[in-house]
Amino acid sequence: MKGVILAGGLGTRLYPLTKVTNKHLLPVYDKPMIYYPIQILINAGIDDILIVTGGNNAGDFLRLLGNGKEFGLRHINYTYQQGEGGIAEALGLAEFFAAGDGICVVLGDNIIEKNIRKAVEDFKKQKEGAKILLKEVPDPHRFGVAELKGDRIVGIEEKPKHPKSNYAVIGIYLYDATVFDFIKTLTPSERGELEITDVNNRYIEKGLMTYDILEGWWTDAGTFDSLLRANQLVAQTGANKI
Ligand code: G1P
Repeated sequence: MKGVILAGGLGTRLYPLTKVTNKHLLPVYDKPMIYYPIQILINAGIDDILIVTGGNNAGDFLRLLGNGKEFGLRHINYTYQQGEGGIAEALGLAEFFAAGDGICVVLGDNIIEKNIRKAVEDFKKQKEGAKILLKEVPDPHRFGVAELKGDRIVGIEEKPKHPKSNYAVIGIYLYDATVFDFIKTLTPSERGELEITDVNNRYIEKGLMTYDILEGWWTDAGTFDSLLRANQLVAQTGANKI
């Protein structure tokens, strides 16, 4: 299993904080944001990692992380997303890196309290398909929202006005190698991006999607309010506990 961290985008929701740097290099309490998704993967036993970045400050990732010595890694892979084509487009750039293996994708602004080791181990036993993680939230309209029937997931809506549940789809996804075929069939959404929710719905339509409910807190950090919350949560309880 390989790990892919998506850390591109222009971070416009955090402007002017992101005027001269990438969102994922901003501080979350005592570390740059990108440290948290790297540690999520390492704690799950995944040490072959690709970082997909973009924008004007991509070189700063290399200056900050190098080959990942601080994390006990010997090497980190990097690639560059031109423009703002969305999460699924960024993931498409990982096809050569994945080279037929399963992947664990983490959005670079997602931070969790605990770890995803069990979900990763369960996914390894799953012969094909994908697995996502859900978390009950008070503000589901901000996220991809799962529609559940019994213990099945029947669909996901991206930022719905009238959410069908309180379960947000968090930014940690486990995929088999067919994800890259699905990405090639996507068309841009209303916001002009290839949506990860469309990828996940393809797996659901084929009956190949499983899910777990995440334990411990989860937050994104892509808006002023969620970045503040991320700082507070990390300061209060710490992140990425084994
Ligand atoms: C993205 C996804 C959304 C998901 C969220 C998790 O939203 O599109 O489905 O719930 O990440 O952080 P974004 O924050 O990029 O708009």
